[in-house]
Amino acid sequence: MGLTTVTSIPFNRTYLAGAEAAYMHQAMTSGPLAGDGPFTKRAHRLLNEVVGSQAALLTTSCTHALEMSAFLLDLQPGDEVVLPSFTFCSTANAYAIRGAVPVFVDCRPDTLNIDERLVEAAITERTKAIVVVHYAGVGCEMDAITEIADRHGLAVIEDNAHGLGGTYRGRSLGALGAMATQSFHETKNVQCGEGGALLFNDVRYFSRAEIVREKGTNRSQFFRGMVDKYRWIDIGSSYLPSELLAAYLTAQLESFPTIQAQRHAVWSAYHAELAEWARDNGVTQPHLPADREHPAHLYYLLLPDLNNRQGLLGHLRERGIHATFHYQPLHSAPAGEKYGRTAPGGCPVTDDVADRLIRLPLFAGMTADELHRVIDAVRAYEVL
Ligand SMILES: Cc1ncc(COP(=O)(O)O)c(C=O)c1O
Repeated sequence: MGLTTVTSIPFNRTYLAGAEAAYMHQAMTSGPLAGDGPFTKRAHRLLNEVVGSQAALLTTSCTHALEMSAFLLDLQPGDEVVLPSFTFCSTANAYAIRGAVPVFVDCRPDTLNIDERLVEAAITERTKAIVVVHYAGVGCEMDAITEIADRHGLAVIEDNAHGLGGTYRGRSLGALGAMATQSFHETKNVQCGEGGALLFNDVRYFSRAEIVREKGTNRSQFFRGMVDKYRWIDIGSSYLPSELLAAYLTAQLESFPTIQAQRHAVWSAYHAELAEWARDNGVTQPHLPADREHPAHLYYLLLPDLNNRQGLLGHLRERGIHATFHYQPLHSAPAGEKYGRTAPGGCPVTDDVADRLIRLPLFAGMTADELHRVIDAVRAYEVL
């Protein structure tokens, strides 16, 4: 009598492009190990090529890139930053720690992105910036948002944690705001465990950014031979990752097309093969406006209600499949209530979708067997 063991399918599994270890070894043996060496510069070039940004600076996380943007916007206590409630806490926290007030706006029911129709009502004379998050790498309504920002003299920052490789009306996500932030956390398409980048489309921010990233010093200028010693010039912090991480990340960025092809295959299989089940069970699949390309960052489903979302999570868990929910609304989170304010009208759509959303396992290197086990298991769930 044989026992069959069913291996579990993780939500995310690290994909190795191949050259990570060799590049890290090269960094270890050739030096330097501190930041801004040859691998960091290579990663900057690769990022600028993918996004079309004017300049890039690797950071220790997307959270830190967002913090840098808060320094660079010169936010003062009491200034306001308009952003979605349906996002990760870092999008708001980065501004709150500078004393600014995050103003939470509801999301659109279709793309789950900040609802551009609600942005104007959130703006006051203290507003300094609008921060957008391209949820699942599907672009926000950037033309409308940019028009509102220009009319009010506000900066637009893209939290592009999900969006590397996505486009909006033919332009890359990350190239649409004055600055954009990337995440290279292990769950992202391209990753180095923990990491990030700040991208610049308005290069006026760049020279101060180098100082903010290097503990408030002009060390970058010193290394380029522009000054004979480096000094404390401005406020800043330590946002520079080591060459070890940059080496790992470079290997991933060089394999971006391969990674993307594999992720898109998984995403498209979910979308096609779950369509009928979704229709029959009142489940909503991701909405993709025709003028946008997504980067297959995540695949989500909206169940009819919280009970069914929890039901499907449990049903998959029993079959060894690790699906997960996503953002919990920021406007009603303890820190959101303490440090932020909610825009007029509240965030009813955010409250609703946060309860109903489930994300399926999606990673480069997912086997056909794993993919079909997930699809079959989802299809076996009957919505109550
Ligand atoms: C929209 C968004 N912004 C920022 C972050 C923070 O990224 P990191 O872990 O690189 O700091 C995340 C994390 O997943 C995120 O989803």
